[in-house]
Amino acid sequence: PIIYVITPTYKRPEQIAELTRLGQTLLSVSGIHWIIGDDSSKVNKRVLELLEFLGIPHTYLLTPMPEVYRNAVVKVGRKAWRRSKRAFVQLPRGVANRMGGLDWVKKHASSGVVYFADDDNTYDIRLFEEMRYTKRVSMWPVGLMSSSGVSTPVLQKGEFIGWYDGFISNRVFPVDMAGFAVSVELLHQAPNASMPFKAGHEETGFLESLGISVADIEFRADNCSKIYVWHTQTVRIYVSRRLEFMRKQYRDSNDDVF
Ligand code: UGA
Ligand code: MN
Repeated sequence: PIIYVITPTYKRPEQIAELTRLGQTLLSVSGIHWIIGDDSSKVNKRVLELLEFLGIPHTYLLTPMPEVYRNAVVKVGRKAWRRSKRAFVQLPRGVANRMGGLDWVKKHASSGVVYFADDDNTYDIRLFEEMRYTKRVSMWPVGLMSSSGVSTPVLQKGEFIGWYDGFISNRVFPVDMAGFAVSVELLHQAPNASMPFKAGHEETGFLESLGISVADIEFRADNCSKIYVWHTQTVRIYVSRRLEFMRKQYRDSNDDVF
């Protein structure tokens, strides 16, 4: 079966480095189709150039985050901000991108597997063989999760007994996006499945909308005892605007690198 790897991405200084690392991992995996959902309304030439160089079967989609969410932090306003008593309001990252990827898969494939691979995680190529024969939904541990270290289903003698995750809350499936794959057949059986624009609840919302239960889960990676994917997070660089004068000084040069 073909694995449809759906990767949300967005423009920032780290973007091409992230996609290079992920893309060169995917070069070692056969039988995949890479769907890159760009959180933008215009094509990013650098991303296209990388995809062309890599030569992995791929589809590049423009899947911008709806404006209402992008401006959410601003719209909350001072009072509402205080009332919510939250340190910060998180955007639902990568949702429009993944939904765009799902629409593409539903239109172009009747079988196979879908995996949501964020551009900043670290993937062992063995992960892809673990998910390749997913009947409905498969799951495995994700390493380097903040607060819990690992996020994983817990098995005892091969039987599911609970979840280990730093954010259980009221989530039916307290898992990370990198910790599961679903079959294309299941997507077709649940045509109204969708991912909510709600930070922290994208995974459970999507899995619940597929109408699955714990009994449907195929536990992989040696009964969830091996880690083949890590939730790595890249430290962001800060580009000083004060260097604008230097950029102006070097017109008609290799100035598109800086
Ligand atoms: C965690 C989960 O691992 C994500 O799968 C989940 O979408 C996210 O939380 C959430 O709940 O919003 P985290 O590492 O905190 O992820 O988030 P990022 O890696 O910054 O973003 C997830 C994906 O969305 C990445 O592939 C990123 O490139 C993309 N993204 C991020 C956008 O497309 N647009 C943005 O504005 C930000
Ligand atoms: Mn991430």
